[in-house]
Amino acid sequence: MSIVRSLTLAAVLLALPLVTHAQAQSQAQTAPYAGKTAYSEISPEAQVARMSRGGVNIIGGYEPWWNDGPSKFSPQDIARTKAAGFTLIRVPLFAFQHLRKDGTLDPAYLKKIDTIVSLAEDSGLDIILDEHDFEICAKDVDGCSTSLANVWYELSAHFRNAPNSVMFELLNEPNGNVDDAIWNGWLPDLVSIVRETNPTRNIVIGPTMWNSIDKLPTLKLPDDRHIIATFHYYSPFQFTHQGASWAGADIQKLRDVRWKGDKAEVDAIAADFDKVVAWSKANNRPVLLGEYGSYGQYNPNMDDRAKWTAAVSKAADARGFARAYWYFEDGNGFGVWDADKKQWRKPLLDALITKGQ
Ligand code: BGC
Repeated sequence: MSIVRSLTLAAVLLALPLVTHAQAQSQAQTAPYAGKTAYSEISPEAQVARMSRGGVNIIGGYEPWWNDGPSKFSPQDIARTKAAGFTLIRVPLFAFQHLRKDGTLDPAYLKKIDTIVSLAEDSGLDIILDEHDFEICAKDVDGCSTSLANVWYELSAHFRNAPNSVMFELLNEPNGNVDDAIWNGWLPDLVSIVRETNPTRNIVIGPTMWNSIDKLPTLKLPDDRHIIATFHYYSPFQFTHQGASWAGADIQKLRDVRWKGDKAEVDAIAADFDKVVAWSKANNRPVLLGEYGSYGQYNPNMDDRAKWTAAVSKAADARGFARAYWYFEDGNGFGVWDADKKQWRKPLLDALITKGQ
């Protein structure tokens, strides 16, 4: 039986509900994930507290591992993150490309996700399944609305029995054509899709403009207790993204932009994060800093990168945010792990792991 999950363009343009309730039950075609631990309800505040010693983004959809290609990722990397002191992994999924014509996810892909979830469970790590098709969504709102609904029907049904260490993040960094009206219009329906099978699992949701702090005030979260709010932090962008080809011509040509950790620089982080605290208190939502990091390909100053990473981590910890560094391993990019040398980039690792807890 196939699932009918279509949507009219008019509904998208008017930011009307994403799907109707008639399009109810998911028909996940593989057996649901059977965790070793039974699910039990945990408040979003308790979950954020549990994750608060630091997390890392790992095994993103970019990795050839997902399509059985040669990959630097090895399953031991999950246990390695735990052994180093991390408490959380965030897994950026490119699930859209694994949707079949009937709107179901390829069972082989679900098995791949099972492998990662199971490794996280074995290691005692919390894990966020993050839908990371944000670039497709930014351009094709109509296609995204259908794919996103389908993906969440599928993942929710498949992971409905997973332990509470598994969380769902509805969409990484909504941006472009996914503006406030569209995003706020979709959220109640996306959350109800998840709630059909996961009444209390914690869901991670962030604002538009690439999960910008400045867009938190326009985020309209559904009336649901089990939500963790998220934002991303790459400021100053000229420092964190110097040389990055995907960040626009002006940023791409930047070299040797320094961050020395002087008072004004550290105070700027505090001022930004205090805005998040004010929002969090006013809206009664715990917070995850889901991505932060600095691109190293054209930045020779590892000392600056380590100082920035430590300052952001410390500022997050001081305010009770959970956090996940971008990224585990990506050659000479952001990565805290060097897969060629099979060793941690120590200055970054030391900046990320909270000592003495
Ligand atoms: C994107 C990556 C990018 C990173 C920093 C992530 O959300 O998926 O491609 O490297 O942000 O810009």
